Amino acid sequence: MAQTWTPNSWRQKPIQQVPDYPDLAALESVEARLSKYPPLVFAGEARRLKHALANVAEGRGFLLQGGDCAESFAEHGADTIRDFFRAFLQMAVVLTFGAQQPVVKVGRIAGQFAKPRSSGIEKQGDVTLPSYRGDIINGIEFTEEARVPNPERQIMAYRQSAATLNLLRAFAMGGYANLENVHQWMLGFVKDSPQAERYRKLADRISETMDFMKAIGITAENHPSLRETDFFTSHEALLLGYEQALTRVDSTSGDWYATSGHMIWIGDRTRQPDHAHVEYCRGIKNPIGLKCGPSLTADGLLELIDLLNPANEAGRLTLICRFGHDKVAEHLPRLIRAVEREGKKVVWSCDPMHGNTITLNNYKTRPFERILSEVESFFQIHRAEGTHPGGIHIEMTGNDVTECTGGARALSGDDLADRYHTHCDPRLNADQALELAFLLAERMKGGRDEKKMVVNG
Ligand code: PEP
Ligand code: CO
Repeated sequence: MAQTWTPNSWRQKPIQQVPDYPDLAALESVEARLSKYPPLVFAGEARRLKHALANVAEGRGFLLQGGDCAESFAEHGADTIRDFFRAFLQMAVVLTFGAQQPVVKVGRIAGQFAKPRSSGIEKQGDVTLPSYRGDIINGIEFTEEARVPNPERQIMAYRQSAATLNLLRAFAMGGYANLENVHQWMLGFVKDSPQAERYRKLADRISETMDFMKAIGITAENHPSLRETDFFTSHEALLLGYEQALTRVDSTSGDWYATSGHMIWIGDRTRQPDHAHVEYCRGIKNPIGLKCGPSLTADGLLELIDLLNPANEAGRLTLICRFGHDKVAEHLPRLIRAVEREGKKVVWSCDPMHGNTITLNNYKTRPFERILSEVESFFQIHRAEGTHPGGIHIEMTGNDVTECTGGARALSGDDLADRYHTHCDPRLNADQALELAFLLAERMKGGRDEKKMVVNG
């Protein structure tokens, strides 16, 4: 029998990746303040996302999840948010066309601040300091002062999340996401990109379809689904004191929900079944993600599934697979087979970023062809196993950064220094993200044609 869960039962468990706060009284006072602040998201919204993900788990839909590796205080601004949202909408439109299925849109945004680190310390020359753990914990500057964990940063992160979410809600519901604007989303640097022509053609087809629908009386005015979109938020539930402070009972159902974001996930470094992060996540009712890396065994995965989704509810659990382009063929099939054998309902999503990081000219980067190769293998393996390749999880931005090499503009190792802005891992720029979406859409279309041939032949 599992022990009784409470929002703070994780405190009794061993825990990885905790910051060393020097002033525990200050930390407690921040957590107490946060616990009185309004929720950022509502239980009903998390349930709606779970319902959408349940359809994906059953093979009817595709999950697009993406955003910054780490949001930063310095880059908080309306333009950054708008550029991200625009790039994300473009990807979603391309994928919807390719998959001919609903695309569930989940940003890594409005709460994605805390970072797990491979090492607790960072060395530069003779100086050793605590690692940067994300703006919600300490500062990125390499100074002793900046690297001290400061609990007041949690309040800043909360307020930034609230402001970000406010703008995103306005974009999603207030007309920006109206499909009649599909051409306007081209503004920005993508309009001069190698993807521009492809996108313009697709936008023309959508406009033509909209004109036809208008002629028969279906318009954005009388059909909200043409002018509004569902957009959800997500982040890694790493800083559990913050998560606990925003954990609230839903008055309709009496259930506990994380209200820091619609979906939260457990990172690859903190998924020990008897540790704190799994304990916290098992008790909240939001949809949750679980990062699956090469060290996860089939039995280990089944144990985690039983802990996190004992009722085998579709939409509750998304497995975010991040093996690396050269390891996915070794690891993914054994996990799929175990899950299928036990009849577990999950969304299979592919994170082609975290297993493909290399160092080039002293920059952490990811070659676009490796990202693509992992996605391709993910699709092929699911086709071979007869399971649904349900989504992708990427690190991306709407800006013209130079962090990942390759893509249609063939960014090289020498270009990385130009606009390398990430606070943590290298992100696809808007151009590369859109290119990935087009390539994916082609694969999905290919899969549909294959299925038709099987049905017809
Ligand atoms: C991340 O998603 O930024 C991350 C740290 O991933 P993982 O836990 O898969 O390494
Ligand atoms: Co990352």
